[in-house]
Amino acid sequence: MLITLNNGVSMPQLGLGVWRVEEGQQIKDAVKTALDTGYRLIDTAAIYKNEAGVGEAIRESGVKREDIFLTTKVWNSDQGYDATLKAFDESLHKLGTDYIDLYLIHWPVPSQDLYVDTYKALEKLAQDGRVRAIGVSNFHIPHLERILQECTVKPAVNQVECHPRLAQNELREFCKQNDIYLEAWSPLMQGGDILTHETIASIAANHGKTPAQVVIRWHLQKGNIVIPKSITASRIKENFDVFDFQLSDDELAGINALNEDKRVGPNPDEFAVT
Ligand SMILES: NC(=O)c1ccc[n+]([C@@H]2O[C@H](COP(=O)([O-])OP(=O)(O)OC[C@H]3O[C@@H](n4cnc5c(N)ncnc54)[C@H](OP(=O)(O)O)[C@@H]3O)[C@@H](O)[C@H]2O)c1
Repeated sequence: MLITLNNGVSMPQLGLGVWRVEEGQQIKDAVKTALDTGYRLIDTAAIYKNEAGVGEAIRESGVKREDIFLTTKVWNSDQGYDATLKAFDESLHKLGTDYIDLYLIHWPVPSQDLYVDTYKALEKLAQDGRVRAIGVSNFHIPHLERILQECTVKPAVNQVECHPRLAQNELREFCKQNDIYLEAWSPLMQGGDILTHETIASIAANHGKTPAQVVIRWHLQKGNIVIPKSITASRIKENFDVFDFQLSDDELAGINALNEDKRVGPNPDEFAVT
């Protein structure tokens, strides 16, 4: 299923995330299984240290590069205008491609105060046709407001932690008002207790689906872009088999009620690892 970003570029709404997937055979197997299954969106990052394997898997898959939507991200230690342009070249080289579909600032790192300059480098890459869309990740509303005020190109996407325990309702509303897509990372709460919660389990039983499929369906129906990670072939297939059922309004409301604004990952205001 394709969505349209604010610059007119189409992007699949469901993809494979590859954080903590090992470089080498593991990443190649995961990406190839996903592409065979029908995934066309792959979400990596320089810091995942598996861009080379992602690129190799794409080339060996037989799927044309232009039919794949590839996301990567600039890491915190590479922020700043010149450093970002250099980091982008390194990512391209590792991926073995000559453009990126979506390039994101991985974290705002407010303490180093470089994300506006970094974003200006992303704008330059967009202007030069080297990326099809640009965006951010882990940005709170005030970080987005600064980008909207001080830069020219609106971010197409804000990729943030989001799952039924952290629904991100306020941020989603802000993004919607500004035509920015919310992309959900850790959409399955990293395989956490949400997958055994009785509300999710009973909805899953109603539809003859698994809890993970119900959670992915919740994301899709909320309008999130969603990138579940798995290295397990059967789960990679399971997570994509979500287009033959629909959650009712009552079921959506039942899952919405599980929100506790609870993170499993770091708070972007504090995260400053370089
Ligand atoms: N921008 C950022 O700062 C940021 C941060 C975190 C993540 N991300 C992106 O978001 C992607 C997804 O997030 P994530 O990797 O943190 O977590 P996730 O997708 O919520 O969960 C992945 C975990 O769930 C398990 N799993 C996958 N499918 C399952 C299924 N059908 N049933 C039961 N368990 C299942 C996986 O196990 P197996 O792999 O063992 O099958 C893995 O342990 C990342 O890979 C990355 O691309 C971005």
